[in-house]
Amino acid sequence: MPSELQSLALPHVAAMHAYTPGLQPTESGWVKLNTNECPYPPSPRAAAAIAAELSDAGEKLRLYPNPKAAPLRQLVARLHGHGLTEENVLIGNGSDDVLNLLVRVFGGPDAPTSFTLPSYSLYPVLIAIQDGRSVPVPFDRSMKLPIDALAATPARACFLTSPNAPTGIGFSNTEIAALLARFPGVLVLDETYAPFARENAVALLNSHPRLVITRSLSKAQGLAGLRVGYCLANPEVIGLLDRVRDSYNVNRLSQAGAYAALSDGGYYDAIIGKIIRTRDYWFGELTGTRGWFTYESQANFLFTEPKNVRGETGPAVAKSLYDFFFARRILVRAFPSHPLTASFLRISVGTDEEMLVVNEAIDAWLGV
Ligand SMILES: Cc1ncc(COP(=O)(O)O)c(C=O)c1O
Repeated sequence: MPSELQSLALPHVAAMHAYTPGLQPTESGWVKLNTNECPYPPSPRAAAAIAAELSDAGEKLRLYPNPKAAPLRQLVARLHGHGLTEENVLIGNGSDDVLNLLVRVFGGPDAPTSFTLPSYSLYPVLIAIQDGRSVPVPFDRSMKLPIDALAATPARACFLTSPNAPTGIGFSNTEIAALLARFPGVLVLDETYAPFARENAVALLNSHPRLVITRSLSKAQGLAGLRVGYCLANPEVIGLLDRVRDSYNVNRLSQAGAYAALSDGGYYDAIIGKIIRTRDYWFGELTGTRGWFTYESQANFLFTEPKNVRGETGPAVAKSLYDFFFARRILVRAFPSHPLTASFLRISVGTDEEMLVVNEAIDAWLGV
């Protein structure tokens, strides 16, 4: 029986379930490879800029931040090139904020929203918040982009993650353009992991006004704790998003830290290059040396199907390794609720030391 307070809530809110984020342990000592954070610290310029913002006993905190995060919009536009201007950019409190605003603008009870399955499990939660209709479009095990099925839905907006989560597979611009040619709605391309990919779709923006690209500073820039993300889109879309966002949706410290980090491209080129090399090395080890099926990743994680010592795979095998890791204070992510993901574990790319700890744990699990 719903309580009196529950029954005062809107029925669709009372009926919904919150998104379950990956575990965030508060004690130290974990090898934390479950939420795809950057294993390296952010640019020192970010912390310096935040400290400057806090100088004079925090005097600046008295004042509201720039409501549009305008300097950051200008910087993001300049960094992406292709003639983009601040009119093409909206900054959010993490890319999750931007995704939420996009659903607020384009999704609702009479405006279905599609997304592929499996993909980022926040999308259906954001749609449920708006009492919207979710239209999941399944992948098969090949994880090839189901263009026909995506084009055939009645969705007003479609959320597509590229590189995909949790598989790591990146879709090419040819595939994205083919989908845009067939799907008449807004295509939200969640490029949270694009800094680690061979290709991104920014070049398609000018010729495709229904394309929206979202980005995050939580992964490549090592700023998950700061909560900054953004989207690149046609100025009309940005105008719609500006109507429905919180007027001060990015706080003063986040704006300062993000600006400083994005201004330090050389620092991040080195980090991203290192993460890609580590990823590709361990991809080779998992597939070649261990013979585990692993999707070719263009992201900062590996999605692998563990094989036990008898050569068996499956949900119970994946759970056995997950539990073994957990007992050794190694956190990875399991996705037991979908048949295409239940036999797999997603391991964020860590430092060399962290990856060696993971490798030793796998040896111990196999008894070798
Ligand atoms: C596909 C995808 N989109 C968006 C996000 C959220 O990013 P942010 O931290 O910028 O909100 C994540 C975080 O894991 C993600 O995997």
